[in-house]
Amino acid sequence: MNTNNQIQPLVDMRNISISFGGIHAVDDASVDLFAGEVVALLGHNGAGKSTLIKILSGAYQRDAGEIHIDGSAATIDNPRDAKGYGIETIYQTLALADNVDTAANLYLGRELLTSWGTLDDVAMEAKAREVMGRLNPRFQRFKDPVKALSGGQRQSVAIARAILFNARILIMDEPTAALGPEETAQVSELILQLKSEGIGIFLISHDIHDVFDLADRVAVMKNGQVVGHAKTGDVDKDEVLGMIILGKCPPGATPGPGALSS
Ligand SMILES: Nc1ncnc2c1ncn2[C@@H]1O[C@H](COP(=O)(O)OP(=O)(O)OP(=O)(O)O)[C@@H](O)[C@H]1O
Ligand SMILES: [Mg+2]
Repeated sequence: MNTNNQIQPLVDMRNISISFGGIHAVDDASVDLFAGEVVALLGHNGAGKSTLIKILSGAYQRDAGEIHIDGSAATIDNPRDAKGYGIETIYQTLALADNVDTAANLYLGRELLTSWGTLDDVAMEAKAREVMGRLNPRFQRFKDPVKALSGGQRQSVAIARAILFNARILIMDEPTAALGPEETAQVSELILQLKSEGIGIFLISHDIHDVFDLADRVAVMKNGQVVGHAKTGDVDKDEVLGMIILGKCPPGATPGPGALSS
């Protein structure tokens, strides 16, 4: 294992830009993420959060900038490249197959087969129980189709699928936007569990209340640019709201190119 693990970011996105037509969706944005860390990416609708993260997940190709993984320049031109670096994304829609059970969802498109070439349901269910047991020990509904599960349970199935194949970098785009308070708490627990396993998590939200308590750091975007980033202990929610709404960078934060000049 690399002894530089703690001083070298897991992900370092530097000076990333992308335009669609004439619109600078992301403009000279830099963010980084360490192992076992939760970084919240905040900003209004249209700020460029999803676009920035889609560049990391290989869904979009950047016009400019560099991505470093474990300190080395990474080539991420498509989602397959990103998965090769252990980068997994959970989109708001979750993309689950509603009519089949948890194990089938975990192995969707990469099913385990027996030596006779038939589906190895026993092995898949055993692995599903192992992964879900680690994430959400109270989960017992292995025989139910996922459409019968609660929102929080569905979210845990989506997370289990993402980490089943050794994700080290997890991107969650608005993970709790559609959930009630109890289920939001359940997802928070899942995130803390992943963090304790050393997974680095980018948590995207346009609502600071969703993510502030979970995040080690925040990075705020506005009009495609980074307003600034800060440790959550060094700023309060009102100051972060000022970053989101006004682009005003408080003393506890490090300003980015999008910070309002005073
Ligand atoms: N595929 C695309 N084609 C054209 N414009 C796009 C595309 N994707 C994003 N944009 C534009 O880029 C800008 C940033 O959008 P993005 O979806 O990244 O914002 P966001 O911060 O994720 O917002 P939200 O909180 O609403 O999810 C917006 O102006 C959006 O219209
Ligand atoms: Mg978005």
